[in-house]
Formats: sequence, C-alpha cells, structure tokens
Amino acid sequence: MKSAIKLKVNGDDHELLVSPNNTLLEVLREKLGLTGTKQGCDLGACGACTVLVDGESRLSCIMLAVDAVGKEIITIEGIEENGHLDPLQAAFVEKGGLQCGFCTPGMILTARSILNEEARPTEETIKRKMAGNLCRCTGYKKIVEAVMTANEQTGEGA
Ligand code: FES
Ligand code: FES
Repeated sequence: MKSAIKLKVNGDDHELLVSPNNTLLEVLREKLGLTGTKQGCDLGACGACTVLVDGESRLSCIMLAVDAVGKEIITIEGIEENGHLDPLQAAFVEKGGLQCGFCTPGMILTARSILNEEARPTEETIKRKMAGNLCRCTGYKKIVEAVMTANEQTGEGA
C-alpha cells in the first residue's frame, strides 16, 4: 500500500505517494525526474547513485525513500549556486576528471561530503573515501586531481 510522504530535495519540498519498498533512487529518478543520479549496479556496489543526505554521502539505491523523510537531500542538480557550478564541478571539467560521465555525479557528491567533513584531506584520504565510487573510463588519477584542485582553490572543509 502506498503512503504519502514529504521529501525535501535540493531545497524544495515534494509531496509524494510511495510504496514502502521504493528506494530513494527510484523516487528521485522516476517521480521527480532527477536523472542526474545514476542507476548503476542497484546493489550498493558502484557509487553511481550517491546523493547527499544531511550533508553525508549515501547510496540512494539501498536507501528507502521513507527513510529520507525529514532529511535534506541534495542531488547533482542541486549543488550549483545561483547559476554557478560548485567548485568541484568546475574542477572536474578543468582537470578532465570525466569521460562518459556516468560515474561523475556520484563522484562529485562523494567528494562534496569529504570536503564538508574535513579541511585539506590528503590524496590518500580522498582515494580511500572515494574507493566505493567506481569509474570504468578515467583511471581515477584526474578525478583525484580534480578533488584536490577544488579544495586548494576554495579552502573548503571543516
Ligand atoms: S547504483 Fe547504487 S551503488 Fe551502484
Ligand atoms: S567517466 Fe565513465 S564511468 Fe567514470
């Protein structure tokens, strides 16, 4: 049986009818049209579906939509500010940290959660914390460079 819930996504409140077993990923993509969040493995193993939930990275394919009630959800569509790319988005473009782009939203949101948590993370920390985000194209080097560049340019972090 479906139930009515409210979700706050990218700053907007949405009233939605969902089934108890609907994942957050399904609701974002199929009910809200936020297809920037990618469906890869659907098993919690690739990181393509990563979003921010209360500022922390979460795999939306293994999180139930009903468990996101009362939380602040941010998808890749919601991290620009006033028409300006997030520094991480800009750095991924500048450093060539993407090829096909399928992994990129998840990579950027995982990186955002790292920079939200920690000032000046080391390269090793970035690699370790992004190990759950898989990329079949880039070889990862430019992705890590992009995250380091964004952090250096903005001085972000706790
Ligand atoms: S689609 Fe969620 S971890 Fe792969
Ligand atoms: S850029 Fe293609 S999977 Fe990462």
